[in-house]
Amino acid sequence: MSDDVLIVSGGSPLKGEVRVRGAKNLVSKAMVATVLGESPSRMYDVPRIRDVEIVRGLLELHGVKVTNGDLDGELRFDPSNVERAGIDEINVHAGSSRIPILLCGPLLHRLGHAFIPDLGGCHIGPRPIDYHLEALRRFGAVVDKTPEGLHLSAPDGLHGIKYELNYPSVGATEQILLTAVRAEGVTELSNAAVEPEIIDLICILQKMGAIIKVHTNRVIEIEGVPRLGGFSHRPIPDRIEAASWASAALATRGDITVKGARQADMTTYLNVFRSIGGEFEIDDNPVDGGIRFWHPGGDLRPVALETDVHPGFMTDWQQPLVVALTQANGLSVVHETVYEKRFGYTSALNQMGAHIQVFQDCLGGTPCRFGRMGFRHSAVIAGPAKLHATDLIIPDLRAGFSHLIAALAAEGTSRVHGVDLINRGYEDFEAKLAGLGATVSR
Ligand code: EPZ
Repeated sequence: MSDDVLIVSGGSPLKGEVRVRGAKNLVSKAMVATVLGESPSRMYDVPRIRDVEIVRGLLELHGVKVTNGDLDGELRFDPSNVERAGIDEINVHAGSSRIPILLCGPLLHRLGHAFIPDLGGCHIGPRPIDYHLEALRRFGAVVDKTPEGLHLSAPDGLHGIKYELNYPSVGATEQILLTAVRAEGVTELSNAAVEPEIIDLICILQKMGAIIKVHTNRVIEIEGVPRLGGFSHRPIPDRIEAASWASAALATRGDITVKGARQADMTTYLNVFRSIGGEFEIDDNPVDGGIRFWHPGGDLRPVALETDVHPGFMTDWQQPLVVALTQANGLSVVHETVYEKRFGYTSALNQMGAHIQVFQDCLGGTPCRFGRMGFRHSAVIAGPAKLHATDLIIPDLRAGFSHLIAALAAEGTSRVHGVDLINRGYEDFEAKLAGLGATVSR
């Protein structure tokens, strides 16, 4: 039997407490930011997840000394000897993550050259990098696409730009921030993403010495500075993991306290959670607070929602919530407007007894950029459905977690294949499940 299979005996409510640490989608970018500094940085509350290991490996290849600090979850970074890494060594990381693309600006500033391997990450659509490359070229980078990866140089240095994104892309906004902070002159970015993780990255860059103004209407202005120092930072908590556990509580009729979860980052999720009939209680003690999420008994109510950029409902909250919606009494509609192909996982839920239909139309009233393009990006979920156990293959990180929740909600024993993928973004998830009373084994 493969080690990468989890045997899940479902049908019992998950009850107990879990803790979330620093957000995966901030920590990995903050690690890249350390390269921009000329003195050491320190980060606390870093989760032990695969994406952090991958970025750590990449930084070490480029001469950043990364060490574990005295505290659990503390990492220290010494970037004083940043150096070029061998293409073969870098290519070991090809296909494993999307973070390497964010090293372009920092490496160009530190070394005048960058090599970026083929990107990986979750397969949830084509995930182009055209905004990244266009902006880098406008800054003055020369980008040479080769079969082995991207070679970038900046023969005349990097200079501030005025740039408007076609769509508020998280990654492209981060790319522009990480490049503009040390580019000569001022950069004005319009239609920027303003997710809490981006604001936290801006806080880190400010600690390093950057000058960044976040204006209204998604405009960010960055005044380039010649030199940056290190930072010491405690990242924002992982609001995607927190919502994943909350949805697991609803789907299994359970009661989960997520220590470390913070209301301010999750208000949109909490509104939906409450409209469906879930209950929550917030403890805002800064040291040991969190949010308790529970199913109060009775029927859950259906909901109509669309995913969107911040402050909208996150695309990464969608998949675990859809599992809970299979248990709501009536028709729910979920319109995915961030990624064009993020409902592939629903066919496995249907095999388990769910009734989910996906449509090419923009259901729910608001047209999005995927309308009339042939992508099945709206889902109608009819509930309540009795889920039964099956064999599942995990397709990507968030869909994978939703499969796991479905297996926990279903009667009987499921075999979930490819669970190691979940380690990319959920720290110690098997131990956490066991702590919540789930019967899981390898
Ligand atoms: C980040 O991906 C996250 N990943 C994703 O989380 C998250 O779903 C996403 O932001 C949206 O919140 C990380 O932070 C590592 P985007 P990113 O650029 O930056 C299009 C998870 O499971 N686009 O905001 O890659 C793109 O195709 C992951 O934790 C272009 O067209 O997302 C998509 O439709 C999955 N051209 C939209 O923008 C570009 O050059 C949003 O993507 C870039 C993006």
